[in-house]
Amino acid sequence: MKRTQTCGELTDKDVNKKVTLCGWCSTRRDHGGVIFIDLRDRYGITQVVFDPSFNLEAHKIAEKLGREDVIQVKGIVKHRKKGMENPKLKTGAVEVFVEKIEILSESEAPPMEIDDRILTSEDTRLKYRYLDLRKPGMQHNIITRHKFVKAVRDYFDSLDFVEIETPILAKSTPEGARDYLVPSRIHAGKFYALPQSPQIFKQLLMVSGFDRYFQIARCFRDEDLRADRQPEFTQIDVEMSFVEEDDIMEIVEGMLKHVWRILLNKDLKTPFPKITYNEAISKYGLDKPDTRFELHLVDVTDVVKNSNFEVFTKAIKQKGIVKCINAKGCASFSRTVIEELTSFVAIYGSKGLAWMKVTEKGLESSIVKFFDEKIQKELLKAANAKKDDLLFFVADSSHKVVNDSLGYLRIEIAKRLNLIDNNHFSFVWVTDFPLVDWSEEEQKYVAVHHPFTSPKDEDIGLLDKSPEKARAKAYDIVLNGTEIGGGSIRIHRSNIQSKMFSVLGLSKEEAEQKFGFLLEAFKYGTPPHGGIALGVDRIVAMITGNESIREVIAFPKNKAAESLMDEAPSAVSEKQLEELHIKFDFVKEQVNVVFGKIRDVLNKEKIEHEVLEHKPVYTSKEAAQVRGTELKQGCKALICKTEEGFIQAVVSGAKELDIGKLQKLTLYKKIELANAKEVRQATGCNIGSVPPFGNLFNLKTYFDKSVVENDIIAFNAGTHTRSIKMKAKDLIKVVNPVVGEFGK
Ligand code: AMO
Ligand code: AMP
Repeated sequence: MKRTQTCGELTDKDVNKKVTLCGWCSTRRDHGGVIFIDLRDRYGITQVVFDPSFNLEAHKIAEKLGREDVIQVKGIVKHRKKGMENPKLKTGAVEVFVEKIEILSESEAPPMEIDDRILTSEDTRLKYRYLDLRKPGMQHNIITRHKFVKAVRDYFDSLDFVEIETPILAKSTPEGARDYLVPSRIHAGKFYALPQSPQIFKQLLMVSGFDRYFQIARCFRDEDLRADRQPEFTQIDVEMSFVEEDDIMEIVEGMLKHVWRILLNKDLKTPFPKITYNEAISKYGLDKPDTRFELHLVDVTDVVKNSNFEVFTKAIKQKGIVKCINAKGCASFSRTVIEELTSFVAIYGSKGLAWMKVTEKGLESSIVKFFDEKIQKELLKAANAKKDDLLFFVADSSHKVVNDSLGYLRIEIAKRLNLIDNNHFSFVWVTDFPLVDWSEEEQKYVAVHHPFTSPKDEDIGLLDKSPEKARAKAYDIVLNGTEIGGGSIRIHRSNIQSKMFSVLGLSKEEAEQKFGFLLEAFKYGTPPHGGIALGVDRIVAMITGNESIREVIAFPKNKAAESLMDEAPSAVSEKQLEELHIKFDFVKEQVNVVFGKIRDVLNKEKIEHEVLEHKPVYTSKEAAQVRGTELKQGCKALICKTEEGFIQAVVSGAKELDIGKLQKLTLYKKIELANAKEVRQATGCNIGSVPPFGNLFNLKTYFDKSVVENDIIAFNAGTHTRSIKMKAKDLIKVVNPVVGEFGK
């Protein structure tokens, strides 16, 4: 061993011992010729001292030490001088006087500070994740995660659960997200899907008789990312035979109790409270209620339906609702704050945020006049409103818009009012979820949990006529407003499973093709079973007090699902593609890359511009229509082939290219319009979506006078569905084209 102790263990009991330590040079202080280094490793920090009167040679070497150099020191443990102790450090009573030093590895100046107190941009942290992980805070997160998983394993092991690994190269599983696909080399045109969860396999294991299964399982879902979502994440996956909902809940409560005791030394009170889905939506607006504070939503539809306020009555006539929350004591909120909150609820689709202040004289606001005295009284009563309170209302024909808007507004107000105790863990089970939900987009029913979830026995009859009314034997566990787990009792009878598939609009053939092996397995003696999966990343983030799960994953992806460190996903060689029988015609992603590059340039130069999302447009006329601009304001960015390669020529949407004139201007002898394939080759964009940013593609660029004559111009920004509108003179500034006359 190169060391006798770690940097986190020497105390005054070790004084006078000869020790050898290894670690990274964290900080260096030079005090009147004596050099102090904080030597750091994962266990802690030990102060090492280079005193020229103690050892001249070691001191000389120490003079050259830089931050993050890795060194080995041999020396003697001494008490620190009186008054120099650091009670915050475990090793704070002592220091090591160095007799011999060896530099094991020198470090270049690190691109980020290895210091929890210094904020570094997340991009830099992710690019140099190995350095970021050197920070004591990150080491704590990762080690806590290890301890968490170990405690979970010990718990399940003690209860006769068997951990079984299930395939990663598998068939598509039905968790509702998009699959990550892996092409097969051996079977041309066929793909494995990375599992969104081990759902089907764990049910098959029940058929096999492993009545208590668990797995720390990696799952993959190609969905839009947020702070609490990653494309690959880890579940504690559990399945049990011969159980009811309560049995699963009890096992999970036991697990959380065990883990909280071990990691946080906290005694959780079980059983956790339960709330039905309907009650959660009614009171909290969301199916993941933060139960650390009240501020409940109140349905006032009946109270206001006879008012004269059209915003409310119109929504109610369209089968909508009106709900309110009472922000206690907030009558002093300024107009600016109310405007901020109005923009906040707009994110969730709300068209406005009505409000009323409660004063001595009663309700006050510009809309109070639409409510007669009786209604005002009833409102005050329904909202339990007192003087100095502020009532917020949202009305909409969509119940979801009302509930989401007020549900999230409730949390926002609680944050602003400091109602949330961050040291409190508030667990709640949400039960009785609906079995299916009508999808307007797909025009069919979709499973709220997944297609194997059992309806409540008493609701099976509803499957035929009104399946949306059927409740499921499904449950989520929610901690402080975050869904940390979800599961269900499964359907184990094939006739009910078939019925469920037909409710979901799956034909017999489709069901057979997708899940045939499961249905087949169920023919051979299936025990009633159920289970749950809990999100490891989310729970560890909450235990360590982190907002984002990226803080508790060693090598996470960023919000764009990229790993900035190793640059995954990355392009692969033609040969690899060939072996996998894959041929790209057009890489769609390129489109976003082009769009991103344009935005980067404009943002960097602080150039005002507007991004428009619209239906795909293929002609200048269509484009002008959806953008609401004149034809001449559009830019036709054409790729031309010359004897020396590609160039870009841009004319106004109202003009055509005059090749003869362009030849005169450019002095190229041969100019012709590039074909679709060549356009892609030159720009990565499809024909008709190329932006007038030739410089982004290293193309010489020419602008016709007709473009420059406009004040505002617009162009497709790398895709047919996105345009950018900006000043022509700004475009000239960033593209720097040759301007001439070649339009006709
Ligand atoms: P579900 O889809 O609800 O259930 O997932 C269970 C839990 O996994 C966590 N989770 C995630 N964590 C991080 N990033 C993600 N993208 C992500 N997606 C989900 C959440 C969630 O509560 N097979 C079923 C379980 C069952 O029925 O037994 C399932 O996967 O904390
Ligand atoms: P208006 O009649 O559009 O001026 O709106 C009057 C007030 O009602 C404003 O405070 C709006 O924010 C609010 N408001 C408008 N639409 C809604 C809605 N759908 N729900 C709640 N408040 C609304």
